[in-house]
Amino acid sequence: MAPASSAWPAPIEGSEILTKTKVAVIGCGFFASNHLNAWNELPGADLVAVCDLDESKAADAAEQFSVPAMFTDAAQMIAQVKPDLVDIVTTMVSHRKLVELCAASKIPVIVQKPFGPTLEDCTAMVEVCRGAGTMLMVHENFRFQNPMRRIRAVLDAGTIGDPVWGRISFRTGYDVKAGQPYLFDEERLIVLDLGIHLLDLARFFFGEVETLYSRHARIDQRVSGEDMATIMLGHGSGATSVVDCTYESRQRPDLFPQTSVTIEGTKGALDLKSDFRLSISAGAEHRVEDVSTPLRAWTSQPWHIAQDSVYDTQAHALSALAGGFAPETSGADNLKTYALVEGAYQSAKSGECVRF
Ligand SMILES: NC(=O)c1ccc[n+]([C@@H]2O[C@H](COP(=O)([O-])OP(=O)(O)OC[C@H]3O[C@@H](n4cnc5c(N)ncnc54)[C@H](O)[C@@H]3O)[C@@H](O)[C@H]2O)c1
Repeated sequence: MAPASSAWPAPIEGSEILTKTKVAVIGCGFFASNHLNAWNELPGADLVAVCDLDESKAADAAEQFSVPAMFTDAAQMIAQVKPDLVDIVTTMVSHRKLVELCAASKIPVIVQKPFGPTLEDCTAMVEVCRGAGTMLMVHENFRFQNPMRRIRAVLDAGTIGDPVWGRISFRTGYDVKAGQPYLFDEERLIVLDLGIHLLDLARFFFGEVETLYSRHARIDQRVSGEDMATIMLGHGSGATSVVDCTYESRQRPDLFPQTSVTIEGTKGALDLKSDFRLSISAGAEHRVEDVSTPLRAWTSQPWHIAQDSVYDTQAHALSALAGGFAPETSGADNLKTYALVEGAYQSAKSGECVRF
């Protein structure tokens, strides 16, 4: 029986309209449609404006997602619309200026990964939002994927004991550059673009990192940066994990965009298999759970795993804002993931282990 004091007041008719968070989105490119679809579906959000330097992209987004206002200048949008939350879906070079703009008006902000081009930029964004007393969240969505939440719950339940070893892997030959041609010119490619998600998962499952060793390679000679990386992490808990990723795998079937996870613990082990079957063994017990993600009206196979996590990431942002707590992937938290990215490049260049 619920305690009497926990009874929620009955909602007043129409009150949900008053409590909706007014959201404005900056950047209407390749990935933004997922954010816009999710904002439109989230009951706590009211998508009030979109902005893109490219007027046709802003106009298309406004029309497609029934957004009442569109802008080509973020400062103008913020001044006129006064949103409760700004969602930045531009590439990293523009993040710092846009975050500073939001902080100047004390507007909470979510910013896509990678957080920024350098650790200095990322730290500056954390500081400016701290100074303004406003929320800064990084849209780090992999840990919000259904299977990853389930794995975290299995670890929390102690089913496999203390994690001692793990592998987090994303190997594909899917042509990611077709949708994101800017990736051709990135001097720091797969670790900053994709490995960053996997390094965040490593922290999510095994805790903070003490040592890192990384080896990189460039397989597709048309790209400027590395497109294969293998990173070995030593965690403060004593666990060891391996994070590996490539955009140039020839494996069949190609698992894109699925991340594979294996974790061995003191009492058992788990393995996220290719068709979203989570195998869990502990002692003599063995079970396989279906951790696939149901489709939403706007999601489609095989991208739905990523698309759905966008919804959950944004839902988490709204909860954090309403509850006044720091989001899991706050700017301050993401500095620790970003430091691992920097460490990977440092280690790959020097051939030495990096200590944190
Ligand atoms: N989390 C994920 O799973 C995931 C997946 C894909 C992309 N991303 C990230 O999303 C971000 C955006 O990627 P994308 O592929 O959509 O890029 P994109 O280049 O297709 O779109 C970015 C848009 O931002 C606009 N823009 C840039 N600066 C602006 C400014 N100052 N004001 C207004 N508009 C501005 C550009 O005109 C462009 O239309 C990247 O950081 C990328 O790494 C994340």
